[in-house]
Amino acid sequence: MNQILVIETSPLRLEASSNRLSKVIVDRILKKRPDMEVKVRDLVANPPPFLTHLEFGAYSDEAIAELMNSEIVVINVATHNYSIPAVLKAWIDQIVRAGKTFSYSATGPEGLLKGKKLYLSIASGGVYSGPQPTGPDFTESYLKAILGFVGMTDLTSFRVEGLAIPGIKETAFEKAVEFVTID
Ligand SMILES: Cc1cc2nc3c(=O)[nH]c(=O)nc-3n(C[C@H](O)[C@H](O)[C@H](O)COP(=O)(O)O)c2cc1C
Repeated sequence: MNQILVIETSPLRLEASSNRLSKVIVDRILKKRPDMEVKVRDLVANPPPFLTHLEFGAYSDEAIAELMNSEIVVINVATHNYSIPAVLKAWIDQIVRAGKTFSYSATGPEGLLKGKKLYLSIASGGVYSGPQPTGPDFTESYLKAILGFVGMTDLTSFRVEGLAIPGIKETAFEKAVEFVTID
């Protein structure tokens, strides 16, 4: 269980701000927890299959097992069109699975991926965290809702934002790094 699972979603790959900030997050986790091993699932190099028929296959089994075996999950999120990259939505469609990651009881749905620490490393061209957000924040609110539904409720988000805004973008990464603290 001493595994950190890192999910990469950006087509910018090594240059992606979500991946770069994630490296800072993971390094700081490792400082506190040198016993942890890091496993990367690159959704751009290996995109999940679309759920074109309601039958889960080997990809879903493997992705769920990987999550179950991870104590910490770090999702690197490029903001695309007010939302998450399509590859990340496809991954979510593969891991939200009745009887595996959630179940229905008499009191309602219950998430089965409990006891995990979840970090989001979110990169965006606009600024969403301040008093005057660039637009509606579907990215963080959606991930919080759907990953909470499967039991991952212990969430901390870090943002590198304003990457398209002159006057902000120049120092955006350094500012984001300052905020990365691991309990
Ligand atoms: C297809 C596409 C759509 C984007 N849509 C948004 C958006 O809706 N809001 C925003 O703030 N930035 C948007 N951006 C800018 C990205 O969020 C920004 O480039 C960010 O750095 C992406 O993360 P990454 O560096 O990890 O790839 C978009 C970029 C691309 C390529």
